[in-house]
Amino acid sequence: MLRLEHVSFAVNGKYILEDINLTIEDNRFTVITGPNGGGKSTLAKLIMGIEKPTSGKIYFNGEDITDLTIDERAKRKIGYAFQQPPRFKGMSVRNLLTLAHGRALDEEHCCSYLTDVGLCSKDYLDRDVDSSLSGGEVKRIEIASILARDVELSIFDEPEAALSPQRQLTLLIQIYRCAKEGAQFFIVTHSPILLGIPDADIYCFDNGSIHLCEYEETESYQVTEMFINNRQMLLDKLLTE
Ligand SMILES: Nc1ncnc2c1ncn2[C@@H]1O[C@H](COP(=O)(O)OP(=O)(O)O)[C@@H](O)[C@H]1O
Ligand SMILES: [Mg+2]
Repeated sequence: MLRLEHVSFAVNGKYILEDINLTIEDNRFTVITGPNGGGKSTLAKLIMGIEKPTSGKIYFNGEDITDLTIDERAKRKIGYAFQQPPRFKGMSVRNLLTLAHGRALDEEHCCSYLTDVGLCSKDYLDRDVDSSLSGGEVKRIEIASILARDVELSIFDEPEAALSPQRQLTLLIQIYRCAKEGAQFFIVTHSPILLGIPDADIYCFDNGSIHLCEYEETESYQVTEMFINNRQMLLDKLLTE
């Protein structure tokens, strides 16, 4: 279980996050959405330990992890997929997945993690995770590496950036199944598909704070629904303004 208590984060005296209180129970997933620049990535980084809160406490499975490093949190089975993942020259996709898994990973399993994120595994296994891969490919490989890890809490920052709607549906099913087996997820997303995971706790950002909301109240749902159902009317209006 993850618990954030009165967590705030300020840079040069300016508050980006203020008094965030949040609990993710085992077998649950929390989805965070809201405006660009609202603080979603910052909140994900605080949970992973990439940034430290200005005040407040973070507990994982009852332990105060507020002052633990990224490594120490990783050892406690917290995994993080960056909005813009890092690249590793000289590290093959096969090695990255094996390293993520923490023990030998046979080719069949390596391939299945890549297939899960929509990559044709035989083309990628021996490629380096370097600048020769597109942003979307690196992102999908990173998602595969999180799936390969035996993590208790997975933090995904906008995974949809790399995934077609069909693949988002596949990820939704994977997340749902993993959560039913006890995993916890913290997903930052604008995707109307990922926001629609059954039984998710959806939080919306509002001026540095968060509040629970219904799927139909999210901007992603409302704008997508309005656009699909009234596309011509909406475009006529917007383009003549
Ligand atoms: N370390 C930092 N120093 C200064 N500003 C920061 C820092 N981290 C985040 N910010 C600012 O905080 C705001 C929220 O950023 P972010 O969490 O990336 O938003 P989101 O992911 O919701 O789009 C942005 O205005 C960003 O520039
Ligand atoms: Mg972000």
